[in-house]
Amino acid sequence: MNLRILGWLGMASVLMGGAAWAASESGNLSSTETGRHLAPAQLRCEYLKDPLGLDTTHPRLSWILTSNQRAQAQTAYQILVAASESLLTQDRADLWDSGKVVSGQSLQVEYQGKALASRTSCYWKVRVWDKADRPSAWSQPALWSMGLLSQTEWAAKWIGRDDGQSSGPGNGREQFLPATFLRKEFTLGKRPAKAVLYLTSLGVAEPHLNGDKVGEDYLSPGWTDFRQRVYYRAYDVTTRLNVGSNTLGAVLGDGWYRGHLSIIGQNLYGKQTRLLAQLHLWFADGSTQVVVSDATWKGGFGPILEADLYAGETYDARREIQGWDQPGFNDSDWKSVDLGASVNPAVEANPGAPVRRTGEIPTVALTHPKPGLAVFDYGRNFSGWTRLRLKAPAGTRVVMHFGEMLNPDGTVYRKNLRAARATDTYVCRGGTEETWEPRFTYHGFQYVEVEGLPTNAGPNTLRAIIAGSDLAPTGNFECSDPIITRTAANERVTIRANLVDLPTDCPQRDERMGWTDYHEVVASTLYEQDAASLLTKWMTDLVDARFPDGAFSQIAPDVHHFPWSPGWADSGVLIPWTLYWVYADTHLVARYYREIAGHLDSYKARSQGFVVHPIGYGDWLAPDMSTPKDLIATALYARCAEVMAELARALGKTDEASAFATLHRSIRTAFQQTFIAPDGTIGSDSQGGYAMALAFDLLDPEQARHAADKLVAAIAKKDGHLSTGMVTTHLLLPALSRAGCTEAAYRLFATSSFPSWGYFLHMGATSMWERWDAKTEKGYHPDGMNSFNHANLGTCTEWFYRSVLGIDSTEPGFGKLLLRPEPGGHLRWAKGYYDSPHGRIGSDWEIKKGQFIWKIQIPANTTATLSLPRHGPVTIQENGHTVWAHGAFRPGVLGLSSAKLNTDRVEIQAGSGSYRFSVTGAGLNP
Ligand code: BGC
Repeated sequence: MNLRILGWLGMASVLMGGAAWAASESGNLSSTETGRHLAPAQLRCEYLKDPLGLDTTHPRLSWILTSNQRAQAQTAYQILVAASESLLTQDRADLWDSGKVVSGQSLQVEYQGKALASRTSCYWKVRVWDKADRPSAWSQPALWSMGLLSQTEWAAKWIGRDDGQSSGPGNGREQFLPATFLRKEFTLGKRPAKAVLYLTSLGVAEPHLNGDKVGEDYLSPGWTDFRQRVYYRAYDVTTRLNVGSNTLGAVLGDGWYRGHLSIIGQNLYGKQTRLLAQLHLWFADGSTQVVVSDATWKGGFGPILEADLYAGETYDARREIQGWDQPGFNDSDWKSVDLGASVNPAVEANPGAPVRRTGEIPTVALTHPKPGLAVFDYGRNFSGWTRLRLKAPAGTRVVMHFGEMLNPDGTVYRKNLRAARATDTYVCRGGTEETWEPRFTYHGFQYVEVEGLPTNAGPNTLRAIIAGSDLAPTGNFECSDPIITRTAANERVTIRANLVDLPTDCPQRDERMGWTDYHEVVASTLYEQDAASLLTKWMTDLVDARFPDGAFSQIAPDVHHFPWSPGWADSGVLIPWTLYWVYADTHLVARYYREIAGHLDSYKARSQGFVVHPIGYGDWLAPDMSTPKDLIATALYARCAEVMAELARALGKTDEASAFATLHRSIRTAFQQTFIAPDGTIGSDSQGGYAMALAFDLLDPEQARHAADKLVAAIAKKDGHLSTGMVTTHLLLPALSRAGCTEAAYRLFATSSFPSWGYFLHMGATSMWERWDAKTEKGYHPDGMNSFNHANLGTCTEWFYRSVLGIDSTEPGFGKLLLRPEPGGHLRWAKGYYDSPHGRIGSDWEIKKGQFIWKIQIPANTTATLSLPRHGPVTIQENGHTVWAHGAFRPGVLGLSSAKLNTDRVEIQAGSGSYRFSVTGAGLNP
């Protein structure tokens, strides 16, 4: 099987779900009985739903197709784009009418209309033609708008206040400064027809207009290398403005700009936080008005005494400033703002998804391990903060310490947070009930230890808010084995907790950085979350963080400039390749082609005869660190050369593609000559070495057979336990399946002793841990580097979807599917789905009375090879109709065109739709 590292675009399916699949669609229905034949839905622009303020001049448009007929596909499309909603309603496309384009393309269709000026609103819709050339109705309208396309359009000035005084607890060398409140009152003679606020900051900003927060995002503009670029967001505030006086404002916190980063401390980019805001107003009579941040604004300080991502927020409600963001507020004791910034970044549209509150969790348990100390438990580890609700006398000080685990005495274990104080403090206003949530921090936690609560406090006093990049969930997976299902659930939680503007290593300690070993997690991530926009944004961070010689760094945005390391720097190639593979995105590759290709030069400079020097971290945190570093590096060199050849080919650079393919062959040969002993042993005979060689296809067939045996033996030598680390764990299960040893893969879940995935569960994990021995019978690992929310060792997710459910693709973008479930172990059933860029792919199998029953869902506009298991002669029926018997295909079922034997599988060619197969004689007995 083609080893692909896959992922998915998160468009919730509008197709029929779950149990309804098979019943709703019979192979014998005629097209007239089935009603709606093909309809476009879930329109996306640059991966986002209705994005505002883009600065790409040819945005890419995508949609999925729904149908209740089998084998339906788009044969043509037409896109209309208009500058107003009413023009679009009348089908008057003043910006672009693509006309009828004969094409099946429904992903990444580039806008080809009139040149788009700054601030243009673009309303669009699409219709499609089906296989019988029948047009669909028009889709629901969607929108994108353009931002400020040139730096010169920013009339706004960077503003802030530089005289904030530290008054919070702080400690030692830290100097926490209060958040700055900024405001400007202005008058409108008439109501605007449209108003858009463009805003960014050096820090993190919360915009306000006429008394309320603008937008639902938190921690914007996120983290970039502020010396190079900063991203703005656009907010439609048309309905928020009044005739007469209005007040535009913002609260400005430290964020990544001035706050703590890693062990470096504060002020990495600058000491002065700044706001840049520009409000554009359009009136019905054609006139316009602009309100910008400038010297006429005033600034003050209020209740937010400290706001730091690691340290937490300190809020004194007695210092709240009533009405500061409303007209008529007396700001006479506020000072004029300070102007200018110590950095001069390019101001660009934010390509990423905003951080938002994405859920709430009520308290699961409340304990009092010591007098005056309450411990709130939220049942699982995640990223976010809490909402406090209480009634207490003025000046009551409630201190909330966040942590992931408990000490034996029931207090919260916080040693592993290292220098991250992870503490929020709220000082009560007094009087009526008070509700408070921090705005400029987040924590990774399951428990909160609270001091200072009044005696009437109960479980409802504190509620957890889940926060992170607001990305659509793309998948679900469960099966009859609780160890596997819980492992998948824990990895899901960890993946989500670590998508906060960028992919972070962990959400709790003084780190939370874009470590570039994330490529190990990306395939699992994309099966769970539509992270395309976040990763598109991170790709620029990766490029910005390169060393002067072009080498990719260990962290992006980079703060340490640690030396180049294989296993880390590879994100520079493997992230854009994954986006190409999953979303058919060639745009990002084209934009950064030279930088991406430069990664191969980094390897070359550190190699001799195609074998890379033994440098870098090796298989970080493997219990058995014996896998040679040069083996790891050379395997990754080969992998990067292989995918680089694909990327070059995708861009039509055929000469370069063949040069990379030649390079790949040379490295592969050198790998075999250097690391394979005459008896077939690879490297140090470690699990990781075999996993890499097999997963990356570095072996000839005979070598691969030996390697598979030796890998299975290496696992047996450890008595069924794992000895892989961060770099090779994600390859282990795919390598076993690829080598035809799926049973050995299932067996890895049969143990619950150390080190294994079952062991994490045995020790009470609700998320994935950084170390196999993060917690043992002896207690927590003594090292400070001990995260309980680190994804790398838990990256089985990709295998759960791709091998257990069998959801795979044979071409970029999931247009041609390979559905190939691999039942095994003691599994009686497995079910789930992946919301691919083309729509929902469902796979739901069960072994019942010796039959293999498989319900599937194939999205419209895709086709699939269905690979069904068999051991000996089988009969296959679809919804009661025999489609395979006596070794031959029986035509007649709508949507199924042919079938053939392929060793131990029967392969059926299918069009889109829902099907229910039963295989008799598959020889499966869980
Ligand atoms: C991070 C890891 C990272 C490693 C490399 C750790 O502190 O959390 O994710 O890959 O350092 O040294």
